[in-house]
Amino acid sequence: MTATKPEPGQPLRILAFVGSPRNEESWTYKIMRQVEARMNDIRPTEVEYIFLNRTGVPFCDGCLSCVNVGEQSCPSYDIVGPIAAKMDNANGLILGAPVHTFAVTGLMKNFVEYFMYKRNRPSFFGKKALVTTTASGGGHTQVLDFLEGTATAWGCDVVTRLGVSSSQMKKPAYVEKIDVVTREIAELFVKEIEKGELGSPKFGHLMNFRAMQHMTRSQKGSVNEQYWQERNWLDAEYYTDVPINPFARMLAGRIARKMRASTRKGNAKPVR
Ligand SMILES: Cc1cc2nc3c(=O)[nH]c(=O)nc-3n(C[C@H](O)[C@H](O)[C@H](O)COP(=O)(O)O)c2cc1C
Repeated sequence: MTATKPEPGQPLRILAFVGSPRNEESWTYKIMRQVEARMNDIRPTEVEYIFLNRTGVPFCDGCLSCVNVGEQSCPSYDIVGPIAAKMDNANGLILGAPVHTFAVTGLMKNFVEYFMYKRNRPSFFGKKALVTTTASGGGHTQVLDFLEGTATAWGCDVVTRLGVSSSQMKKPAYVEKIDVVTREIAELFVKEIEKGELGSPKFGHLMNFRAMQHMTRSQKGSVNEQYWQERNWLDAEYYTDVPINPFARMLAGRIARKMRASTRKGNAKPVR
């Protein structure tokens, strides 16, 4: 079982990933520290920072053995395994990375490639996540979308996100706005962790579930199929039994049936 709700009277345990190569100098890290301080104003919170630049993890070699054989078979499992265990034990996750060339940093991208298996075999249901980025000018949305999509695919509920313009951080008016917003997101993050409820899936999450279900059904005898079978997901409407908007559920089911028919006939269109 993954940790979600904190033990009564215990500090919140948060694991934060710093996807900037600039480590403690990083604006993204400084924003995370600000959120940490605001969380501590509400409830004692211990944040462990993992500086991705220091993990020593090489480039993912793309062997896909984490997906096909099991996560323990990863050639870098000695590094990745203990980090996965820390994620499991945390009450919440923070993913933070700056914008590099209008995309997420290579450092963060490479790191999450090691968790590809968790997209196939998600487990972090009920675990809350916060995603953040900084850029001097633009590209925040691309990175926030990527980080949110990643945490969501692992099973997390992304409760809030924040993009900061680091070039504005010398302007008192902007700094004041960031003070307000970090307080708001810290409050929301703590509140949602303490509630510890399963998040309700958005339509995109339902469609993502259906796509993964379709793929897993076709992987007969695989570790993924076994994982899905054990959890009765192969014929389910979603990973968890949280109430789903009936219209979204119906629409997702209909689109999924069309998708299945289309791939059976080889009708998938080349992407242009
Ligand atoms: C290689 C590289 C690419 C960058 N690309 C962008 C970009 O596409 N858009 C932007 O607004 N800023 C870009 N920046 C600026 C950083 O996003 C910005 O300085 C950010 O706050 C750095 O975060 P950090 O201090 O956490 O590393 C780039 C910086 C570097 C080093």
